[in-house]
Amino acid sequence: MAAESQITRSVGAEAPATSLPSQPCVMLIFGASGDLTKRLLVPALYNLACDGLLSKNFALLGTAMDPLTTDSFRERMSQDIKKFHTRKEFDQKVWDDLVSRFNYVQGGFADMAVFEKLKGEVKKLDAQYKIGGNVLFYFATAPRFFGTICDNLHKCGFKEGQGWKRIIVEKPFGTDLASALKLNKEVLANWDENQIYRVDHYLGKETVQNLLAFRFSNGMFEPLWNKNYIDNIQFNVAEAVDVEGRGGYYDSSGVLRDMMQNHMFQMLAYLCMEVPGSFEPDAIRNEKAKLLQSVRNYTQEEVARYVVRGQYGPNLDDKGNVLKPGYRQEKDVNPESKTETYAAARFHIDNWRWEGVPVYLRSGKALWKRGTEIIVEFKKAPQVIFRGTSVNNIGPNRLIFHIQPYQGIEVQFQAKIPGPTLQLQPVHMKFNYGDAFKASRYTGYEVMIYSCSHGDATLFSRGDLVEAAWRVAQPLMDHWNATPADFPNYARNSWGPKAAADLIAQDGRRWHEIVTEEVLRKVPLFKDGDMVFIDSDLAAVDCDLLDFFTFPLTARVCGTAAA
Ligand code: BG6
Repeated sequence: MAAESQITRSVGAEAPATSLPSQPCVMLIFGASGDLTKRLLVPALYNLACDGLLSKNFALLGTAMDPLTTDSFRERMSQDIKKFHTRKEFDQKVWDDLVSRFNYVQGGFADMAVFEKLKGEVKKLDAQYKIGGNVLFYFATAPRFFGTICDNLHKCGFKEGQGWKRIIVEKPFGTDLASALKLNKEVLANWDENQIYRVDHYLGKETVQNLLAFRFSNGMFEPLWNKNYIDNIQFNVAEAVDVEGRGGYYDSSGVLRDMMQNHMFQMLAYLCMEVPGSFEPDAIRNEKAKLLQSVRNYTQEEVARYVVRGQYGPNLDDKGNVLKPGYRQEKDVNPESKTETYAAARFHIDNWRWEGVPVYLRSGKALWKRGTEIIVEFKKAPQVIFRGTSVNNIGPNRLIFHIQPYQGIEVQFQAKIPGPTLQLQPVHMKFNYGDAFKASRYTGYEVMIYSCSHGDATLFSRGDLVEAAWRVAQPLMDHWNATPADFPNYARNSWGPKAAADLIAQDGRRWHEIVTEEVLRKVPLFKDGDMVFIDSDLAAVDCDLLDFFTFPLTARVCGTAAA
């Protein structure tokens, strides 16, 4: 689930005047009293309504176990929207119209009587708002209910009648390969693949969608996009937050299931897939699935060699008192938990384009800073031409996609330092979304609801892609289940376990850290300093100092485990 608002393109104030509104539909949300509805779905609907992109022929029907009525549901949503809307100003008139279309039915997902009631309500709303039979089912529930709901919808005859019927399913889609295969089977028992829209909220992020637009609309980079010119690729999703009270869920998940297998593999597929024949949904989805099918499925020995895991420990003061709990002390977490809150891996894409190019992924919670970036590092220029000069090390060119919180693209290259001698310095050119576009803040779900209503599945995962992603993740889980974990091995507020630095160092490389002023100010040396040489342009300069300060910190707080 997205924690913060995003900038969007097609569904924003700057959207082209020709944008059509969403197609008419009744949106039936299962799990409507939960977090997702109030934080993301309803604010997304409200944004669409504000921008004239929500059909006038729209109604929402929520259902869940919570004892609410249509009136109390509307009241609750009206309070929540004040907290969770993303507009600069709140438009009461738009909201009043929207919320008047909200309705609620209380009940359990296994109860056929509830489904009969829902059917009656959908029919009534369909007639009232002249919808024409379209129904968008949104499963904002735990995955264990997906199969039952699909089954009951089918038994109750929801598939029949005029208009389209589509199902949006939230992540996680399975918890391992076997459960994902089973879930696909259950969902597809009565529904067609083209009716199932599997959401990954990272694909709602403009900066992620732009990966494809950038690659295929610029002639400059695509010819270089292969093993001949690219040395390595790094995906970094660092979170400063901890498990935020979701220990119960997280302890049976871990970062591999929570972030890598879905969000990060989606970005990997966009960045590395072959050129599609068109921008048609299946043309893109075919290439994405093919790419994930090319990622090597590791043997147990390869997992041991190419993957490391971590778990955060507590923050202690100098006397050893706990300032903030470690993962194992979090609420609803097993005190001996082996669940990883951090992972770093090198993957191999075994195809013609990428053979031999290391692709590194790392992600973790309770890290020193928040930031999602993709760094494409090109092979270095030949040094030999500079013989006899004072240039003794040419840095690589890098193309950096800043996904969040900073949103932009950056190119790093070498420039001559002004002066009589030939000396080089890495410099950079930057594009910042905020400067280039009249951007509005969105939840990322607007584009999902809007696209689904138009039957555009580009941003949703097909069953084969989800299965391919689990095939890559499964050997890692098997290996971790079978081997003891030396946890905790990194401190809160650190850069993760030292093993992650060692993993990439064994290839003679290092993680590329995006160093901002904010990050540097956390280093005691720079905290109160004048910082004359540190301005916003620092973003993206390698900084050995950070390793120097953070790894000793990790070792101090976690004992020897971090060494
Ligand atoms: C969710 C995960 O899918 O994504 C969370 O369950 C994680 O654990 C979140 O914090 C990150 O999303 P974003 O959009 O904040 O990067």
